[in-house]
Amino acid sequence: RVNTNELRARLSAIADELEQRDGTSPIETADVDAVSEFIDQMQVYEGAMYEISTKLEILDSEFQVHFSHDPIHHMERRLKSIDSIIDKMHRKHLPITVRSVRDNLFDVAGIRVICNYRDDVYSVANYLSAQSDIQVLRVKDYILNPKQNGYRSLHVIYAVPVFLSSGAHYTPVEVQFRTIAMDYWASLEHALRYKTDLPDARLSEHSQTLLDCARALQNVETQMQSIHRDINGAPQGTQA
Ligand code: GTP
Ligand code: MG
Repeated sequence: RVNTNELRARLSAIADELEQRDGTSPIETADVDAVSEFIDQMQVYEGAMYEISTKLEILDSEFQVHFSHDPIHHMERRLKSIDSIIDKMHRKHLPITVRSVRDNLFDVAGIRVICNYRDDVYSVANYLSAQSDIQVLRVKDYILNPKQNGYRSLHVIYAVPVFLSSGAHYTPVEVQFRTIAMDYWASLEHALRYKTDLPDARLSEHSQTLLDCARALQNVETQMQSIHRDINGAPQGTQA
């Protein structure tokens, strides 16, 4: 519930600010309404995130029971902070309204699914995508087509119904499926990206090395995947 608390804090900050501006002026009802609408929307995103992660946990335990294999190593979940939401809306030159966030941002609710092997990535993603109560809004397969810098992951945006008193609200959740090796690589690349104080020459040297690492990890992963397939048989839902 961290983000809801953050929004509530923001709401009281708005109240404080308005009070300081003019000791007698009441809190702008428009601001309060907007913030409380935001809080409601964030709760819907949070609900959608839990719906998807529960589905993933159920799939993982089913695999565990049937195939004695845990496809999911671990998961990470996060709701985008209000500051990042506002930053991103600014960057995209979009209005900062709940409606605009709903229509344009698909990664407010995010789940990262870290699997042991590439086969697991695709089988978990395929089983989730096939579930009849959710929709696949967008797929970006950076495993099949890695990014220039070497980044690999399978990104799927799902729309999941969250049931409120007013009915079903289809809410987007961005799921990043990747292997441990892809995650290991992405963490370091992410850290490097924020090291803007490094001289350009060192930055580009590190980027080149990272690209080499991405290829090396991909090779290691392929070899280990093949040993794993050989001793366990290809898991369900994947082509050998
Ligand atoms: P955004 O506006 O950035 O969300 O662009 P997009 O909607 O086209 O997103 P995309 O699916 O390409 O990537 C979204 C997320 O994937 C990012 O927020 C990161 O978490 C992750 N990601 C994408 N590219 C990279 C990369 O090159 N390096 C790392 N470390 N992470 C990446
Ligand atoms: Mg994104």
